[in-house]
Amino acid sequence: MTDQKRFSSGSSARSVFYEEAGKGFPLILIHGFPHNRSLWADQLFGLCDRCRVIAPDLRGFGESPPAPPWSMESFAGDIAALMERLEIEKAIIGGLSMGGYVAFEFLRRYGDRVHSLILADTRAGADSDETKAKRRELQRIAQTGGAQAVADAQIVGMIGATTRETRPDIVQRMHAMMSSAPVEGIVGALEAMMNRPDSTRMLSEINVPVLIAVGEEDALTPVKESRAMHEAIPHSTLAIIPKAGHVSNIEDHLEFNSVARNFLASVGH
Ligand code: MLT
Repeated sequence: MTDQKRFSSGSSARSVFYEEAGKGFPLILIHGFPHNRSLWADQLFGLCDRCRVIAPDLRGFGESPPAPPWSMESFAGDIAALMERLEIEKAIIGGLSMGGYVAFEFLRRYGDRVHSLILADTRAGADSDETKAKRRELQRIAQTGGAQAVADAQIVGMIGATTRETRPDIVQRMHAMMSSAPVEGIVGALEAMMNRPDSTRMLSEINVPVLIAVGEEDALTPVKESRAMHEAIPHSTLAIIPKAGHVSNIEDHLEFNSVARNFLASVGH
């Protein structure tokens, strides 16, 4: 059983919807692009006996309304405001892909509120010029064809080859999730990702425990990105999820949760 709640800080433009399950030390899980909090459904259920698992909808996704400015700073600020509201001083912060970019920004701005980190299927580097051009094209696709066209364009990269061949239910779940994203959120998040800072230089200074998890078949943020982060971050553990792609937490949720549980135990939770 999960609780679904909304909090507003000041104006409705800043309202954030979130879902939570369990009690204990807070674990905040940030979804990727163009996802919503339902990305973490298997973790809300699978980890709630160990932690208070909280999954927000980033602004512009799920039930959180779109609101400029679009930046990693805004996304991270919304997570900090949610923590304030819930009177959470420190949390384990987890993010998948774009959620990982938000986690890096959160660490940069609110480092004293980070107990430990889970970086799933993400990368530390900023966008190349080529990637920025692809993002502008995706903005155009969103504005002309809507979220469905974005989901069509993204679905193959989003899911590993094995899952695509063997789990049509997961392909359908991810396609439906991406198709439901509001166009304003899609366009805004692409802007935020294009302008995000490079986090590579901060890796060697991260002084909290970090779990890096990545699907073996992740085509969007390949294993080599995770290996590079693991080599640079002093207290990090690398877990490669076999036969999973970019959404490794869904493609093999049992393995992902088992890796996460070992990590939680190693940091005392
Ligand atoms: C995501 O899953 O969040 C995106 O693939 C991230 C990105 O496009 O860089």
